[in-house]
Amino acid sequence: MGVNLSGRSFLKLLDFTPAEIRYMLDLAAEFKRLKRNGVPHDYLRGKQIVLLFEKTSTRTRCSFEVAGRDLGMGVTYLDPGSSQMGKKESLEDTARVLGRMYDGIEYRGFDQSIVEELAEKSGVPVWNGLTTQFHPTQMLADIMTAEENLGDMRGKKLVFMGDAGNNVANSLMVVCAKLGINFVACGPEKQMPAKELVETCRKIAAENGSTITLTEDVKEGTKGAHVIYTDIWVSMGEPDDIWAERIKLLEPYRVTKEVMANADEHAIFLHCLPSFHDTNTTIGADIAEKFGVKEMEVADEVFESKQSKVFDEAENRMHTIKAVMYATLK
Ligand code: CP
Ligand code: NVA
Repeated sequence: MGVNLSGRSFLKLLDFTPAEIRYMLDLAAEFKRLKRNGVPHDYLRGKQIVLLFEKTSTRTRCSFEVAGRDLGMGVTYLDPGSSQMGKKESLEDTARVLGRMYDGIEYRGFDQSIVEELAEKSGVPVWNGLTTQFHPTQMLADIMTAEENLGDMRGKKLVFMGDAGNNVANSLMVVCAKLGINFVACGPEKQMPAKELVETCRKIAAENGSTITLTEDVKEGTKGAHVIYTDIWVSMGEPDDIWAERIKLLEPYRVTKEVMANADEHAIFLHCLPSFHDTNTTIGADIAEKFGVKEMEVADEVFESKQSKVFDEAENRMHTIKAVMYATLK
């Protein structure tokens, strides 16, 4: 039977079958080809979407805006400072209002239950642009980038290093399980994905012929890996006073030249971005001054190396988000 995602929300990858995920990835590759060749693809002309951001963003916001316009849609951007949401109007009422005006809603913010409630109450497709628990649109871009460089990812090894219990690591574990990719969370025991999610993913991975491994051992964890992935050590919404503890816990899990040398000879480096690979940011400079740490989750030489595909990955956010919107709104 063909895949039909029309009218569906995109809240977490656990809700989708491997065939549905494959469909969105193939669609994204087709949209990338059209965009590169300058072929118009405003297939959703006349539709309207709204983007709700309770946390800041560069890639996700711009991807939704550009993809929405390429598809011919009208796009409204709202942040907490420019809407009533949360302060004067409940989420439920906001969802019911927006559902009357828009064909689709993107949400970036806090608990996963918020985006799930938005979908339930608004009556239109809702897309998760990052919650505390998951970041599902990111994973489509990550797998697309990995496939562009390494071909079929089934049976290959993807390692997430560092804060392995965060939204990006959780979502990577799910997508790997769904697509038959061997996933390794390499970090301290304190920063591992929740037990229940690990168990769920292990069952899914077994059905698709892959494994989920949690390890504190960098040498063993990254050995022969095809993709080495990391993310910032303190996520949006976490308190600033957690930096000292995180630096101490996660420094052994920085992606260095030695880590890349221990991986497969064709291994690539991925990062969802933004990244603290130098001191050219206010937070980066502040951390360098306070803790003497000049590069955090990834060494600058790895970030800038040929193995690093982070800017292809950033571009692919747009093509994959376009695929998600098209698949669910067409
Ligand atoms: N990777 C990602 O989601 O980036 P932004 O926070 O800039 O959207
Ligand atoms: N884990 C990060 C991802 C940013 C794209 C955060 O939630 O801040």
